[in-house]
Amino acid sequence: STAATTDSYRPALHFTAKDTWLNDPNGLIFHDGVYHLYYQNNPVGNVWGNMSWGHATSTDLLTWTEHPVAIACDENEDIFSGSIVHDRHNTSGFGDGSTAPLVAVYTSAFKPGSLHEGVQAQSLAYSLDGGYSWTKHGGNPVLNRGSAEFRDPKVIWYDGGADSYWVMVAVEATDFQVVLYKSRDLKAWEPLSTFGPANATGGVWECPDLFPLPVDGDPENVKWVLTVNLNPGGPNNGSAGQYFIGDFDGTTFTSASTVTEGLQDPDRLGDYQWLDWGRDYYAAVSFSDAPENRRLMIAWMNNWEYANQIPTTPWRSPMSLAREISLQARDGELCLVQQPAGDWTALAGTESLHLSGTTIDDGVQVLAGAAGTVQRIDVSFTPGGAEEFGLILRGDGTKGTRVGIRPGEGTLLVDRRESGRTDFHDSFPSIDSAPIQATSGSYDLTIFVDRCSAEVFAQDGQVTMTELIFPAETSTSLAVYAVGGTATMNSLQVAQLG
Ligand code: FRU
Repeated sequence: STAATTDSYRPALHFTAKDTWLNDPNGLIFHDGVYHLYYQNNPVGNVWGNMSWGHATSTDLLTWTEHPVAIACDENEDIFSGSIVHDRHNTSGFGDGSTAPLVAVYTSAFKPGSLHEGVQAQSLAYSLDGGYSWTKHGGNPVLNRGSAEFRDPKVIWYDGGADSYWVMVAVEATDFQVVLYKSRDLKAWEPLSTFGPANATGGVWECPDLFPLPVDGDPENVKWVLTVNLNPGGPNNGSAGQYFIGDFDGTTFTSASTVTEGLQDPDRLGDYQWLDWGRDYYAAVSFSDAPENRRLMIAWMNNWEYANQIPTTPWRSPMSLAREISLQARDGELCLVQQPAGDWTALAGTESLHLSGTTIDDGVQVLAGAAGTVQRIDVSFTPGGAEEFGLILRGDGTKGTRVGIRPGEGTLLVDRRESGRTDFHDSFPSIDSAPIQATSGSYDLTIFVDRCSAEVFAQDGQVTMTELIFPAETSTSLAVYAVGGTATMNSLQVAQLG
């Protein structure tokens, strides 16, 4: 295939570091009108290593400005994943009288030869200038269990009225356990409870999050959501995130939907609730203090199976789009629903194609006027006799990335075997699938194509699939296809966003 330059892969609407490696989003917080995205970063390379917190900011969640490294590794510790809180009442004492601090809670991964060699423990740093410069706390680590696998603290303020306090969720990664702690000052922590093992337990558990959400927007009916990323062991192999819906009473998280028998059984993976079914949506965590109580998440758009080999240089790995998460009751079951969250108003794009009521014949049809590399595609299909139908993205005629529906099987699939460069890792050229149901007889998809990725939102946001692709620069066509019969494309809108 044609060699694409790395710039033809660099996304327009997703964050990438200018010329370095990144993985997990860290310390997501909305503060003083600005969204802060910190991230696992190698400041001097484009593979994993020298872990530090890089930093970027945005006001629209679509365009980002990179800043100098916020919290750097040193001879004693790597700075692993964690979170940031605005300590409004200066409970930590890091404030200076006029400014309440931002406090970062991160994992110190202690290096060989350091005092705590081999241990992962939780540490603090604080900022008095709104998140641009950081000072490590002299009393680090503040929470040390002597464990080599204790990491990824997410801290929230638990509003228990007169008895309110900080709650930390972190993982004992190889025990498939979320551990909960409480503190009044972010420095002294006492254990509350543990959650797990439950549901998907392939690989290790990483990067948990815990947050309340109203069911169908009803403030009188609030549930708690625990998200847990795991690697490997996702529904289509490698890294992925699962979620549990339940209750949190300030001490214990309980979930009605947990399975604790047969945990390693791959046939069960379809029974669990996944944040995303694609290959490239990992380490998802939510923002602290997002406006209007919105729950906004960003994930790392990559997969540990091949993360260090994806063919981009000098940067490596994008973040996902920011998503707004809500909780809905559908068919008597609670589920998370996701929608792209950025401020798209400035980016309405130009509509290049608008079709309605088109019959899709057996075969592949390239759509004139729909070519592009940065697009929002809204499409609705009704099945005819075809066993499979859908779109082929970033193609050159018949080849490209298939996004299809198999109504008989009830699956949504992304096939990237002919998506462009796939040779950098054996497991990259995959056909991935998710269970999907028709809504009032039709399958409606919203797909964001952004040079090296496709993010599919299906079933009104209940099912999402996020996948990296590395097409040739010249592969820009959009096609529609059906296999073994016909289907109807009720509508298609393509907006060019690039
Ligand atoms: C998840 C993870 C975290 C860890 C970080 C290290 O991708 O393994 O558990 O804190 O990456 O970079």
